[in-house]
Amino acid sequence: MKIMITGACGHIGSYIFENIHKAKKVKNVSLIDNLSSKRYSSLFNIKKNKKIKFDFFNIDLSKKNSLKNFKKYDVVIHCASYTNAEDSFSIKKEMFRNNLNCMKNIIKYCKKNKSNLIHLSSTSVYGKKAKIVAENDKHLLKPQSPYAEIKIKEENLLNQNKKNLSYISFRLGTITGVSKGIRFHTAVNKFCLSAATNGYITIYKTAYNQYRPYLSLRDAFKIFLFCIEKKVFNNQIYNALSGNFTVKQILSKIKKNKKKIKIKFINSPIMNKLSYFVDTSKIKNLGLRLNSNIEYDIKQTLNLFKTIR
Ligand SMILES: NC(=O)c1ccc[n+]([C@@H]2O[C@H](COP(=O)([O-])OP(=O)(O)OC[C@H]3O[C@@H](n4cnc5c(N)ncnc54)[C@H](O)[C@@H]3O)[C@@H](O)[C@H]2O)c1
Repeated sequence: MKIMITGACGHIGSYIFENIHKAKKVKNVSLIDNLSSKRYSSLFNIKKNKKIKFDFFNIDLSKKNSLKNFKKYDVVIHCASYTNAEDSFSIKKEMFRNNLNCMKNIIKYCKKNKSNLIHLSSTSVYGKKAKIVAENDKHLLKPQSPYAEIKIKEENLLNQNKKNLSYISFRLGTITGVSKGIRFHTAVNKFCLSAATNGYITIYKTAYNQYRPYLSLRDAFKIFLFCIEKKVFNNQIYNALSGNFTVKQILSKIKKNKKKIKIKFINSPIMNKLSYFVDTSKIKNLGLRLNSNIEYDIKQTLNLFKTIR
């Protein structure tokens, strides 16, 4: 089996290729990234594996025909994207251009080659006050950033092309856990970095007691493995999370591993003042139980800095 991982140097992509040997029958894995995230370290010392050959391609997927020389891959896991939601306000135009052009090129490639596609959306597409939000609650979609607006556009592009395309799309919660390409611009990792380097953990005033969804990298990989091995590409969207937690709960998990932390409350440009629980019934019905302990991920992340006093 041949697998293409786009955005392979990033946080999620690097975790996938480090673990892809766990998928049966995988022989060739192509890693594509334009190195815009500068995660060169993801490519250091890739573990040799007797059964898998890795190739790396430095390609900008937003460029037309960027994949024209690529023959068929059985599965494409599409992670290539600009991903900083907070920055997306100041680089809105560029983020729309990059992410949507990448998406269009990937769709075109998968249709032409009959490749199965795993698409990564985000639970940040939700943003209305609700007790619980589920995939079919279209009235609860209210992106609070250009980044999240783009995710909805990507989902719509997939839906518009569904006739000749086999895909599955996951609305991932905020990722927790350590990978070679780990990045620190999302909530938990950012808090861990500040805690570990004795800086202030900045918290959005409005978010302290609000529930948000989080997904362990281990559960994210479990999902991808499941789709690859069971060939589940049913053109559906699924929420994917290990649990819903408040910022207060996340901070108490950090405090268990780092006794003294400093907190500063600030205003956020993402004015998402609304609390919501993300529903997991649909993914459970698929047969997937996501239950990795994010406290373990937090401990691992803090441990990266363990020799700092
Ligand atoms: N990390 C999270 O918490 C999270 C949560 C929900 C959804 N997601 C989604 O999962 C996917 C992967 O996220 P991540 O955290 O690994 O992001 P990341 O920023 O760590 O990695 C993305 C990678 O894509 C590459 N890239 C960007 N534009 C490219 C282009 N034009 N051509 C080739 N490569 C390009 C970057 O160099 C980077 O290495 C994204 O679609 C993201 O929106 C992530």
